[in-house]
Amino acid sequence: MAFELATYTQDAAALRVDDIAFDDFRDRPLSAEALRSLHYMADVETHTVCYLRDLLVTPSHQNPRITTFLTMWNYEEFWHGEVIDRILAAHDEDTGPARIRRVRRRQGLKNVVSPISQCLAAAAVGEDFIATHMSWGAINEWSTHAAYARLVAREDHPTLTTVLRRIMRQETRHVAFYTSEARDRLERSGRARRVTRFALRHLWAPVGSTVVPRAETRFLLGYLFGGEDGSHALRTLDQKVDRLPGLAGLRLVTRAVARFGVR
Ligand SMILES: [Fe+2]
Ligand SMILES: [Fe+2]
Repeated sequence: MAFELATYTQDAAALRVDDIAFDDFRDRPLSAEALRSLHYMADVETHTVCYLRDLLVTPSHQNPRITTFLTMWNYEEFWHGEVIDRILAAHDEDTGPARIRRVRRRQGLKNVVSPISQCLAAAAVGEDFIATHMSWGAINEWSTHAAYARLVAREDHPTLTTVLRRIMRQETRHVAFYTSEARDRLERSGRARRVTRFALRHLWAPVGSTVVPRAETRFLLGYLFGGEDGSHALRTLDQKVDRLPGLAGLRLVTRAVARFGVR
């Protein structure tokens, strides 16, 4: 079924947390591992606008359906970062504009190279690039949703669970858009399938791994996706990728996580 974009543009919203007692975390704080994971997640969520910068220089920006979605998506992801920051702030952790600025500055030359190289590569591919963008987006949203689900399970903290489940509901809408667009475009074009398969196989890396230090990605993957439950979640992610036209058998997520030394 096609994604109802008009409904989504009406429903897209800042995550509702007016009923959340963030002081609960002062009475029952999260574990050090959960806080470290949340820092990673906040850094990634607040980086969305920079990912958007790199996507608006590609053929995706010529498609109004996609730019409408990206506008709402960026808005919702912004609030995910803000809300996770409130959880971290309740633990007196380092959050806010100074940290965000540091994360962006740390990208250094990538701030220049990344939009330029993406612009050139996507222009060479043309319209079929949109299929790659949509498939990539679907895989990243699936991964993000799975990471939140794993953190909920590992930490088992009622207030955290409530907040993360609300975030996950919005991530589910993002998944729905990306997968419906990816499926259509991959089905229509053999070239789109070939380009997307090639790009994912050679360039895809776990969400956030290009933004945060390698040690943080390694920690997060080990904490949330190590062990039996974690590897089950990874296999489920790979099965989802398998169901996109032309992308079966990549074992994309499992292989990418193994590259970080996580078993
Ligand atoms: Fe998000
Ligand atoms: Fe999302």
